[in-house]
Amino acid sequence: MAEDKWKTAITDIKKGEIRVRGYDIQEMMEKLSFSDAVFLILKGELPTKEESEMMRAILVSSIDHGVTPPSALSTRTVLSGGNPLNCAVAGGILAIGDVHGGAIERCARILQDWAKRPDEASSVAKEMVSDFIYKRKRIPGFGHRLHETDPRTVKLFEIAKDSNFSGKHIKLAQAIEVELANSLGKKLPINVDGAIAAVISDMGFDWRLGKGFFLISRVPGLVAHAYEELTREKPMRKLGDWNCEYDGPKERKITND
Ligand SMILES: CC(C)(COP(=O)(O)OP(=O)(O)OC[C@H]1O[C@@H](n2cnc3c(N)ncnc32)[C@H](O)[C@@H]1OP(=O)(O)O)[C@@H](O)C(=O)NCCC(=O)NCCS
Repeated sequence: MAEDKWKTAITDIKKGEIRVRGYDIQEMMEKLSFSDAVFLILKGELPTKEESEMMRAILVSSIDHGVTPPSALSTRTVLSGGNPLNCAVAGGILAIGDVHGGAIERCARILQDWAKRPDEASSVAKEMVSDFIYKRKRIPGFGHRLHETDPRTVKLFEIAKDSNFSGKHIKLAQAIEVELANSLGKKLPINVDGAIAAVISDMGFDWRLGKGFFLISRVPGLVAHAYEELTREKPMRKLGDWNCEYDGPKERKITND
């Protein structure tokens, strides 16, 4: 019975026919870039020229960040243990969390919540930052282990400005960066997660898709790390930081009394 069927609005498949959001896969293969197809599958509609440029920049921005992020290290570690590429990449994905990649979702949620207020971005940022500092919480999307200015943020905001996506969420993120520097006396730059969070919010995406953007962007990088580990390194090599000192219990014996 029809009413017993569960419904999906993503892809319709019949014998010899595949339609994604209503568009024929062959036509998509001919006319769309990968990032356009990602936009279509997530948003349900084809991107405008501006949305297409913005989406391409977002997906390229996080493709890789070297061997140090937890996801790249996990991918290489799992591979090094003698596991196949799919397990290694899955291991890398599992290392993506609230402070690595996952900050997009939490930051977009905060920006979307706070940007609803009618006040100026600077006063909203002031209230928000003091609330976080009072609660001793970190603001996701700000701060970086290496970059004082994240080059990806600069480019994403530049493209957002040229594509008319520089709206209230980017404005609020920039005001938060200024306010964090004023309150803490040091610069905590908007990192790539924060920049993507602000841009996707100005593009009208739901914050709950935040982690998805990072996953879609970073998986090619993780595949490259797994493949390089497989083809260039010996199994179970020394990986990660070996500068570790044992400070547990001293040598002791199990006694029966
Ligand atoms: C990314 C991150 C882990 C880098 O940290 P780091 O440069 O190694 O800095 P530390 O963890 O040593 O923190 C240094 C100081 O800045 C503060 N700080 C760092 N990021 C902060 C943030 N986002 N909000 C508020 N305070 C922050 C810390 O509390 C710490 O303060 P203290 O010196 O008074 O203890 C950190 O900035 C963070 O947790 N950011 C939020 C999560 C995030 O956006 N992740 C995505 C990264 S691309």
